[in-house]
Amino acid sequence: MSNNIIMDGNYLNIDWANDFDILNSAYIEDPFSIWETLREECPIAHTDRRKSSWLPVDYDVVTKIAHDINHFSSSEILVIPIMDGEPNPAQPILPYGVPPISADPPLHTWTRRLLLPWFSHKSVERYRSMTTELCNNLIDKIIESKHPDGARDFAQQIPVRVIATMLGVPTDMTDTFTSWVRDFLEFADDRERRLNGARGIFTFLIEEIENRKSSPKNDLISELLSSEFNGKKLDSSLVLGMSILVLVAGIDTTWSAIGSSLYHLATNHNDLERLVAEPELMDLAVEEFLRAYSPVTMARVVTEDIEIKGCPMKKGDKVLMNFPAANRDPKVFSDADKVVIDRKINRHVAFGSGIHRCAGSNLARMELNVSLREWIKRIPRFKLAEGGVVTWAGGQVRGPRELPLEII
Ligand code: HEM
Repeated sequence: MSNNIIMDGNYLNIDWANDFDILNSAYIEDPFSIWETLREECPIAHTDRRKSSWLPVDYDVVTKIAHDINHFSSSEILVIPIMDGEPNPAQPILPYGVPPISADPPLHTWTRRLLLPWFSHKSVERYRSMTTELCNNLIDKIIESKHPDGARDFAQQIPVRVIATMLGVPTDMTDTFTSWVRDFLEFADDRERRLNGARGIFTFLIEEIENRKSSPKNDLISELLSSEFNGKKLDSSLVLGMSILVLVAGIDTTWSAIGSSLYHLATNHNDLERLVAEPELMDLAVEEFLRAYSPVTMARVVTEDIEIKGCPMKKGDKVLMNFPAANRDPKVFSDADKVVIDRKINRHVAFGSGIHRCAGSNLARMELNVSLREWIKRIPRFKLAEGGVVTWAGGQVRGPRELPLEII
């Protein structure tokens, strides 16, 4: 990690194996060295902070748990759990949660099936030209700007507009959506902010759903409202839950991945030069950025006592699905901590593994591909701004939130 990143020295005060804290700034800024230490110290780290939680760092453990849906339920997916007694904005508005991500079969199976056609290769192509135009408009402004910020002025602006178009909600509300989603996911330790973000998203989408009931449009919300399961229309609260998921899942995940990729290129000039000279490497490079800077950590809850690698997991414990660490496991990836932009064998799990594997991966890949291609075409030489400070968000989704750049 670069010297531009603020470190507060908290790293030394934490017993990572027995009392890890993924919201600690040291973990957010440089989780890689912590995972390396953990691989030597214990099979799976544990903490009793917030709730009894486990943090695997090995690829085989993470994927085994992702596939064992009988012992590990998706009914609690937040890595920072809503504690007993804390107001839960989802109750009683979302009796079905936000399926498919928060559901186990059978609800998971058929709600996922309803979403998948919207994210097929073919469907996603419909958004390619708008994404290209959007990126170029943003780049126009960035080139003119004296102090461009790759995260704020570029990465953050893209996914929210694409998702808003897909959901059929006004794109001029994108800044508001972004701040709701950030409040909900990124500042999850601040109860008020989390509640505020959730309320904003819920209230807005409830109104949008009511509007679609009287005047349907050609969008995902309208299609969900007209869908049937077992001969019955979907309950409005189910449509609400699924719409919330699509809005939340598609925004800061992809924005973080675009931002981290730009961070890498700003700090690794050989890779930047090579991609500019050989843009046909972009598909491989995108996969490698996804592997090395995987943004998403999810959670599961243990449904019955089970022992994994000698660790006694109790019913009700949380397990953090550490896909980012799995992707840096040296037992699976050669030079795991090195970014190899033309890595040929790359079975990363940035999009998860098993039945919950990301439904939006085609869309995310398209957005990453277009945004990075357009950027390097028009800004082939750039670096971190002298004296600028890169800041990172962490927890459920990791990525740069401020990325001051200098165009050379
Ligand atoms: C680089 C960007 C993205 C990353 C790294 C990512 C990562 C993930 C991961 C790791 C999961 C698995 C969750 C679990 O196992 O509990 C997931 C699920 C999901 N993602 Fe993404 N995601 C990204 C972008 C998107 C986009 C653009 C959408 C579209 C709206 C999306 C929609 C979903 C949905 C609907 C699920 C739930 C699938 C299920 O439970 O069956 N994601 N994502």
